[in-house]
Amino acid sequence: MQRLTNKHIVLGISGGIAAYKSAELTRLLKGAGAEVRVIMTPSATEFITPLTLQALSGNPVHQHLLDAEAEAGMGHIELAKWADLVLIAPASANLMARLSSGQGDDLLTTVCLATDAPICLAPAMNQAMWRDTGTQANAENLISRGIKLFGPGVGEQACGDTGPGRMLEPEEIVMHAANQFETGNLTGKTIYITAGPTREALDPVRYISNHSSGKMGYALAEAAVEAGAKVKLISGPVNIPAPERVELIKVESAEQMLSASTESLSDCDIFIAAAAVADYRPTAVSEHKIKKGSEEIMELHLVKNPDIVATVAGSSPKPFTIGFAAETKDVLNYARGKLERKGLDLIIANDVSRTDIGFNSDENAVTVISRQDTLELPQASKRQLAVRLIELIAAQYKASK
Ligand code: PMT
Repeated sequence: MQRLTNKHIVLGISGGIAAYKSAELTRLLKGAGAEVRVIMTPSATEFITPLTLQALSGNPVHQHLLDAEAEAGMGHIELAKWADLVLIAPASANLMARLSSGQGDDLLTTVCLATDAPICLAPAMNQAMWRDTGTQANAENLISRGIKLFGPGVGEQACGDTGPGRMLEPEEIVMHAANQFETGNLTGKTIYITAGPTREALDPVRYISNHSSGKMGYALAEAAVEAGAKVKLISGPVNIPAPERVELIKVESAEQMLSASTESLSDCDIFIAAAAVADYRPTAVSEHKIKKGSEEIMELHLVKNPDIVATVAGSSPKPFTIGFAAETKDVLNYARGKLERKGLDLIIANDVSRTDIGFNSDENAVTVISRQDTLELPQASKRQLAVRLIELIAAQYKASK
């Protein structure tokens, strides 16, 4: 279940006897590494208490749309944006009918209307209610709108009937949820991603560096793995764990990053340079700690570092090559200049003058620039943006072949 690690799951619970299984479902999702926020409909609280779900999810349970206090904490729009997946289990016949007709008459249905995340339902109801033509029409309508249905299963029901309508077991629901994060659109492709800062040593204890945390590059590596790619993550020193299933190559300096990037480059289909590489390094590294002298001003002599992404873009055969542009003004013009000068296929521009996005923040907002198009991706978590970026990169890569 590695695909659920760090994923934001909004777990919706509607009213039905199967709601007791949502406790185990929450526990399993958490155990698989997901962050879970639970939304309960009023009737769900008749079957299981919010306190149970709060204890198991580790987060307050959301219940009311028009609750000023809850909205001030994480309101319905924030919940909708936060979600990587909205999973409703159990989904009652009534909930399916309300979703099918596009209603937003409680918190759960409103979040469904407001989210861009995939929505999945685990239906649970009496077999006759499931077979009812109204429910079947609602199910078809929901599926035609891209909403996924997990189950229902067939078997003995709480009311004593036997037939279709049983909610799938929590283990099966977790497996289906994890599968939603495997897009497979880069299956068989090898991607190199540079991430984090470089450190350019002055002496054994000092270096020149920058504020890159690696979050953007690591999120791209995770999204690329989920898209089925084999990923080599070439990373400067950072304090975050590498996503599972990537080959992590740790480097310090720009020169080390260059050698790791160009070694066996002929294997590489797509190269993404998200690292913040120091443009210059000291001309010499002092063998011993540089001592403080009597002079007030100290001069450092720097020499230009090799341009890693431009070297990759100039290689033959050349992988589909994507750079980032970190700018503090005139962002798009400077980015277009780098696209041309470095011979890139795409460049992703971000404004690093802002503190809420760019360096070291959890969110970013970017503009993807190719020779033909410009596409703005609004502010979102780096993980959500990375998923969009990998989809776009996969599509452009395929179009280039
Ligand atoms: O790591 P985070 O805290 O999550 O922050 C993310 C980020 C802001 C670092 C990331 O989104 C980003 O913008 N990365 C590129 C930073 C940068 O060095 O940009 P640049 O405009 O200076 O360089 C342009 C491109 O050339 C980049 O792809 C860079 O990796 C590459 N480059 C630059 C210099 C060099 N010597 N070799 C390179 O390959």
